[in-house]
Amino acid sequence: MARADDYHSFEREIDSWRIRKKNQTDDRKSYDEVFDKQNLMRIYKLFSDGVMDRFDFPISTGKEGNVFRASTNSGTMLAVKIYRTSTGTFSDMWKYIAGDPRFRGLPTNRRRLIPAWAKKEFLNLGLLYRAGVRVPQPIVQHENIIVMEYIGDEVEPARQLRYVELEDPEGTARTIFEYMKLSYQKAKLVHCDMSEFNVLMLDQEPVIIDVGQGVLVQHPNAEEWLQRDVFNMVKFFKKYGISVDAKDSLKEIKGK
Ligand SMILES: Nc1ncnc2c1ncn2[C@@H]1O[C@H](COP(=O)(O)OP(=O)(O)OP(=O)(O)O)[C@@H](O)[C@H]1O
Ligand SMILES: [Mg+2]
Repeated sequence: MARADDYHSFEREIDSWRIRKKNQTDDRKSYDEVFDKQNLMRIYKLFSDGVMDRFDFPISTGKEGNVFRASTNSGTMLAVKIYRTSTGTFSDMWKYIAGDPRFRGLPTNRRRLIPAWAKKEFLNLGLLYRAGVRVPQPIVQHENIIVMEYIGDEVEPARQLRYVELEDPEGTARTIFEYMKLSYQKAKLVHCDMSEFNVLMLDQEPVIIDVGQGVLVQHPNAEEWLQRDVFNMVKFFKKYGISVDAKDSLKEIKGK
């Protein structure tokens, strides 16, 4: 997609993109959803603020939103996650944001929930990044849109852990459990959706993503969700013949 010099040429670009995609019904549907008038205005703002200059290609079309690769004229590649405002798993989101002291008094309507959710993911990325957990560096959040560091190379985004053949599964497991410990002890966060879907492998190095549902350790369900995270990762690495004791690693993560 070319540089959007003015809003109308930008809209024309998006339209031509839609037409090119018209044979792929699913893509087409999600493009229409994600590129509605409001989102176009928001993306346009990010362009005019100089955050990015073009969209390169879609990376993922998920239940809650879409992820695109974007770039700047100086060659920096970015990932842009756009939460869908129309459909999605509202009640699931609510579970992870209610009770978070950072979002006290949040009204229970979807229109307000989605940007708050995007903000939550953005804040969580910042907490984790500063604690030394390898996550995409957060760049900007605007309403339902998050711009962050792109994990991948020129050609393709990094693959999810589940699709990568690990050269050093034990080392990878160690790093991931270390990140869970750093997350708990330094960032004071529990991810709450740790799995082989939400870890990308960049040159055999794990990068934790999708941190929107992460809650602060004081959250009344933090303990239960941490156990689930640990259990998921223990189960995944079992397939590689690596046995990690869930109880021990839980203790190690919490440091008590
Ligand atoms: N910063 C990034 N760099 C490269 N690829 C990314 C980045 N963030 C997300 N992706 C890709 O987009 C996919 C979906 O992102 P994410 O897991 O954050 O969203 P999601 O809400 O779980 O979407 P889904 O409904 O598909 O599960 C990831 O599995 C990954 O392939
Ligand atoms: Mg995910």
